[in-house]
Amino acid sequence: MKFSTALLTAVFAAVSFVSAAPLERRAGTGTKKAMGKTKLDASGAVYFLTNEPDVNRIIAASINADGSLNLDNAIETGGRGSHGKSNGPDALFSQGAVKASKKGKVLAAVNAGSNTVALFSINPKEPTDINPIGDVVSSEGEFPISVAFNSNGDRFCVLNGGLVNGVNCYRIDKKLGPIAIVNGLRLLTNDLQTSTPPEGPANTASHIVFSEDDQQLIVSVKGTPDKAGFFAVWGVNGDGSLTADFKKVAPAKGGLLPFGMSVIPGKNAVLATDAGVGFDIVDLKDTSKNSVVKIDGQVATCWATHSQATGNFYLTDIGTAIVTEVHVDDNLKGSVVAGFPLTPGSALLDLDIATVNGKDFIYVLAANATSIDVLSIDSPGLALRQTALNLVGPTKAAGITINANNLQGLTTFAP
Ligand SMILES: *[C@@H]1O[C@H](CO)[C@@H](O)[C@H](O)[C@H]1NC(C)=O
Repeated sequence: MKFSTALLTAVFAAVSFVSAAPLERRAGTGTKKAMGKTKLDASGAVYFLTNEPDVNRIIAASINADGSLNLDNAIETGGRGSHGKSNGPDALFSQGAVKASKKGKVLAAVNAGSNTVALFSINPKEPTDINPIGDVVSSEGEFPISVAFNSNGDRFCVLNGGLVNGVNCYRIDKKLGPIAIVNGLRLLTNDLQTSTPPEGPANTASHIVFSEDDQQLIVSVKGTPDKAGFFAVWGVNGDGSLTADFKKVAPAKGGLLPFGMSVIPGKNAVLATDAGVGFDIVDLKDTSKNSVVKIDGQVATCWATHSQATGNFYLTDIGTAIVTEVHVDDNLKGSVVAGFPLTPGSALLDLDIATVNGKDFIYVLAANATSIDVLSIDSPGLALRQTALNLVGPTKAAGITINANNLQGLTTFAP
């Protein structure tokens, strides 16, 4: 199988495994280190995690009017990062390790090595200025890897991917921080047997998202070469609590390793990258409509985002370092539109889109190159690489440790 050979033989550097520690509350949560002069006229911000095992930090870069980036701040998340049992980049085998909500003006991040989640408020006038809301809270499981907000940005859920895996949901109290929702804790452990930290990327949890109407909570889980992965779908009640059991949805035949998801607007369906083939389309109501679309030459397609400007989806492949644009039509039929190759060997991970002065820009975490690639979306089928922001110089100058193998998660905020 292409996926396992490409990823598992990509021996890059020795990685020390950090075992999960009990809940810790660090005094340093929110401590900032400035890396440059904060731009006050920013058009938005991009955030990602250092996911370092000693001190985890959010790195915040402001978006300039031309879409380019300016590294501003590194903010402590009050916990530790971790690395699954594998070598190389994509430490958490996940999408969504850090996530911003435009509506709620909040941001949540996982501390995979501390089993906690940190919540921050975003100052919309200066979006790289983020401040903790309350203390870190327990993820109520091990190896938290992904977070998702509801559309109002007043609730969120976390996905745990270790030995104790599953989801836990919170409502946001603007003063106290995250408050666990009664009946918001649900396990996956009968269907996903793994360890803390997990061995991967096969047979691990991937990503958590809400459906467009907030009435379903969806988790993707990668399979193994012998056993296809699945989607776990809980119903979400009005008070944010979850149904006792989840509906287990299989990808269509040929689907194997469901990874990052993006909701398909207006369709009650999601597109999920499938690291074994290309991507899966999952209809949340009528699963007989599910399909699998192959991306020719792919190695491991893992992360996904959607552009409102083109209506198309943009997927990254960690092995080929290509951004693939795909279209999903009204009948949920998916097709490949174009491929945009970036630097070979740069290991493209999480990506997100921000609309800046009416134009969409793609921001991609190129972990192995310790940089963020910036592409402008000019029209369907046409994305142009504008710049790449190198992270090494500014982080080093500010005394912030980053490591190609640990960097994870990327989310945008554009007010
Ligand atoms: C990361 O870089 C190293 C060193 O150049 C290379 O051996 C490895 O294949 C790269 N990994 C990926 C996933 O591109």
